[in-house]
Amino acid sequence: MVAQPSFRFSHLIAAFVALLAMTCLATAAIAQDAIHGAVSMDSSKVVGSEACMKCHGQEVAVWKQTPHHHTFKELHRRPEAKQIAERMGIRSIKRGDLCTKCHYTMQAVDGREKAVAGVSCESCHGAAQDWIAIHNDYGGPTVTKESESAEHAQQRVTKAIRNGMQNPANVYLIARSCYNCHTVPNEQLVNVGGHAAGSAGFELVAWSQGMIRHNFLSADYASNAHSPTGRLRLMYVTGLMTNLEYSLRATANATSAATYGFASAERAFEARKRLAELQAQLNHPILTEALDAAYGVKLKSNNKDALTLAADQVGSAAFSFAQSADCATLGAVDAYLPAASQYKN
Ligand code: HEC
Ligand code: HEC
Ligand code: HEC
Ligand code: HEC
Repeated sequence: MVAQPSFRFSHLIAAFVALLAMTCLATAAIAQDAIHGAVSMDSSKVVGSEACMKCHGQEVAVWKQTPHHHTFKELHRRPEAKQIAERMGIRSIKRGDLCTKCHYTMQAVDGREKAVAGVSCESCHGAAQDWIAIHNDYGGPTVTKESESAEHAQQRVTKAIRNGMQNPANVYLIARSCYNCHTVPNEQLVNVGGHAAGSAGFELVAWSQGMIRHNFLSADYASNAHSPTGRLRLMYVTGLMTNLEYSLRATANATSAATYGFASAERAFEARKRLAELQAQLNHPILTEALDAAYGVKLKSNNKDALTLAADQVGSAAFSFAQSADCATLGAVDAYLPAASQYKN
């Protein structure tokens, strides 16, 4: 008699934990207007990765093994980089914003901008000055993660995002920074400089679950385990949508029928097709919105306004999807998920 209720209770807990792992309904009600327009970094609000060290030493250690970190010391030494810079007519790749926007973290000290790192924590999570003290404050020195109220946790995440944090609570917030760099939306840089027109085959799950991965925080994940399947489903679909958004943005910048224009239109064409194929399985209303916007526009040069509008619509759909999709209902995505052997290491 005594054993029975506790037996049932532990079952209930197990079921609840399983539910948590499978579903990924967003815990914080993040409003669409919390995302302020395009991805940008205010160098006067950059604090640098040393400021994260104290509490996120393991994440920093992982980052230090990646090309994002190495590019700081290596890029300017590469002959290809010197050639691109020469063709673009710039003397220093660590000054100005032509190369620094994507290869470095710029910090303004006393009004002077300086490259302080390669692609770092804040490149993906947002310049931290205005959110660093908020994102880990459970509600005063006596409150712990366990005793924090659900309401306070919601407010904390929402407030951090309003203050510029790209919080994985809505994975679109991070996905868009990946694509903002990895689609290389700069026509001159490609056509004149000879820079690659984006990273071939960039896909959010494969590119985030390999060498980049730093899952140390959540007790649901073993120390730096891959993100759970439900989360990967959500990331995969959000990634395809964000890929489409940023491919449309890149195409919007095309003014001539040359390498850049062809490459970005081709990528948008493929992105649209891949999302449509997935939608044939998923039949999700938010994907319908994104696809209607993307198929309603011509993938051609000098079509900036229409392409930008479509990109905005796809982006806002991607945000809503990341916010509201229930991973448990996305089982059809499993057939498309890259295998662990395809993760970028
Ligand atoms: C004083 C300790 C501390 C510092 C410094 C700190 N963090 Fe955190 N961070 C935490 C804690 C604690 C959490 C877990 C919050 C929770 O339970 O949601 C966290 C969570 C996060 C998350 C996960 C999202 C979330 O809100 O849970 C990200 C991303 C993050 N921190 C990035 C950073 C970055 C980038 C820096 C440096 C610019 C930084 N943190 C500095 C303590 C810190
Ligand atoms: C819009 C973002 C963006 C800008 C701006 C940018 N790059 Fe890149 N660059 C990238 C990305 C992303 C890659 C990685 C491409 C890949 O996946 O192969 C890259 C790769 C490179 C590489 C090859 C790296 C290697 O491993 O050898 C060189 C060289 C390079 N960039 C030089 C430059 C120079 C010089 C500038 C400025 C004139 C510049 N880049 C501006 C995003 C950018
Ligand atoms: C600020 C710009 C920027 C952001 C944001 C960014 N990257 Fe990168 N990434 C780069 C550049 C530049 C390189 C190439 C560095 C080099 O080789 O010099 C790169 C390289 C990589 C590589 C290594 C590729 C290889 O061929 O070895 C991976 C993996 C990667 N990025 C994944 C991601 C993911 C996933 C995200 C988002 C979660 C992301 N990146 C966000 C600029 C960025
Ligand atoms: C290339 C982009 C990128 C960079 C650079 C980056 N992060 Fe992240 N970070 C992510 C992504 C994407 C996630 C969400 C991963 C997921 O949910 O599977 C994440 C998640 C996190 C989390 C929560 C994950 C957990 O443990 O549950 C923390 C904390 C964090 N990042 C801190 C940092 C810190 C500190 C740095 C710098 C050392 C950093 N990140 C650099 C992209 C990045």
